[in-house]
Amino acid sequence: MVAHSFSLEPINVPLVATSHRTIQTAIPAPGTREVLERLEACESRSMHGQLPLVWDRAEDYSVYDIAGNRWIDFTSTIFVANVGHSNPRVSAAMKSALDKPLYGCYAYANESRARYLERLVKFAGAPFEKAFLLSAGTEATEGALKLMRMHGQKQGKRRRGIVCIEGNWHGRTLGAQMMSSNLVQRDWIGYQDADIHHIPFPYPWALNGRTPEEFLQQGLDALKARGVDISQDICGFMLETFQGWGAVFYPVEFVQAIEKICRTNGILLTFDEMQSGFGRTGRAFGFQHYGVVPDLICCGKGMGGGVPLSGVLGRASIMDLPDVGNMSSTHSANPLVCAAGLAVIEELEGRDLIAETARKGELLFGALERLKQQFPSRISHLLGRGLIASVLFKHPETGAADGSFTSAVAELCMQKGLLVVHTGRESIKIGPPLTIADEALLEGVAVLAEAVAEVAAR
Ligand SMILES: Cc1ncc(COP(=O)(O)O)c(C=O)c1O
Repeated sequence: MVAHSFSLEPINVPLVATSHRTIQTAIPAPGTREVLERLEACESRSMHGQLPLVWDRAEDYSVYDIAGNRWIDFTSTIFVANVGHSNPRVSAAMKSALDKPLYGCYAYANESRARYLERLVKFAGAPFEKAFLLSAGTEATEGALKLMRMHGQKQGKRRRGIVCIEGNWHGRTLGAQMMSSNLVQRDWIGYQDADIHHIPFPYPWALNGRTPEEFLQQGLDALKARGVDISQDICGFMLETFQGWGAVFYPVEFVQAIEKICRTNGILLTFDEMQSGFGRTGRAFGFQHYGVVPDLICCGKGMGGGVPLSGVLGRASIMDLPDVGNMSSTHSANPLVCAAGLAVIEELEGRDLIAETARKGELLFGALERLKQQFPSRISHLLGRGLIASVLFKHPETGAADGSFTSAVAELCMQKGLLVVHTGRESIKIGPPLTIADEALLEGVAVLAEAVAEVAAR
């Protein structure tokens, strides 16, 4: 048995041929089941459960499978292909790095790393002065956890407390899972670090008449009631820039109040910019929407344009806290990924992709707003900014979150030549490459509307 929630029985779906989509076979396409079953036999189950298609190649905002079907991609894999899949500038930079040749040099110096880090720090702007590079996003959030604690230690804090937000998520390694609040996912750890705390997320539906500042204060009061003294026991606040599953942003006042607490109490403010960085929200980094200045940002995903590149950025006084050798990794700052990372920044800047994302975001949200008006009994919320959006579905009678309706919509979109992010919850996430053509963006939303209508009519 293949472990996934989607049927592997090929369905003779209506064929599609537009300038952005091709569906020319039954779906799942011939050959798909075989590859999924081979993976099922030799790869851990935790990697499975995605929509059943076999990616053969991906270019710009199109994904092609092994049977010649072509999808409009609203996923960017998982918000990685910001500059478009197989971006020619990124490919050329990596090819020239391969031709050099220098595939790796550990922490020894190389020109490519120097050039990339200079450009990266300039791209991030003040107050970011230094970065260190890693491969996975979870390593970056672990790195920030360490830096926040080392900073607090240096300041003579009584405890090494970190305040995180309920429902946020920061990765799958130990510290990252403890900072995340997914209780099921962190159950394996067997204990919770007593100095990692969580306060409630100010969802639009949770405020109940309270101001964002009052809501924050209540969360902090609950910590206080558990014996936590914010000024003495807390080294850092860790915020996911928006809550991932639903692209839920905080009210600006909530984040600004946190920043104020940080400044008053010598606490570091960190943003996990994994999904929101590198132009995704129409700004270089998502924190810029809140009018605050973080001490640290954790980046990954879109940073590498498709290659494993992540990192932490901050002021030199924080970034230099670990001693020589105390914060590096075998593949940190590999010359190949540095070449790719540099090309990503050149592409974002050279094509003005960040401003373009803000413009396309208006287009996307205009179309999604019309979708919401078309299905008021099915769509409860429309969230996000720039080219990250989330449509939340509800049951028409009970109004409860409707995950199975959402999965059916995601599956039908796939059958129609549109790939959306299936979150497994009541949200469909939309995060196309920032390079997507306006026409393809609007065609994608039209396909989503068709799918919602058809699933609702079943
Ligand atoms: C907000 C956030 N933080 C951290 C991570 C972890 O990144 P990675 O999967 O590269 O370890 C992710 C990945 O989805 C993420 O969305």
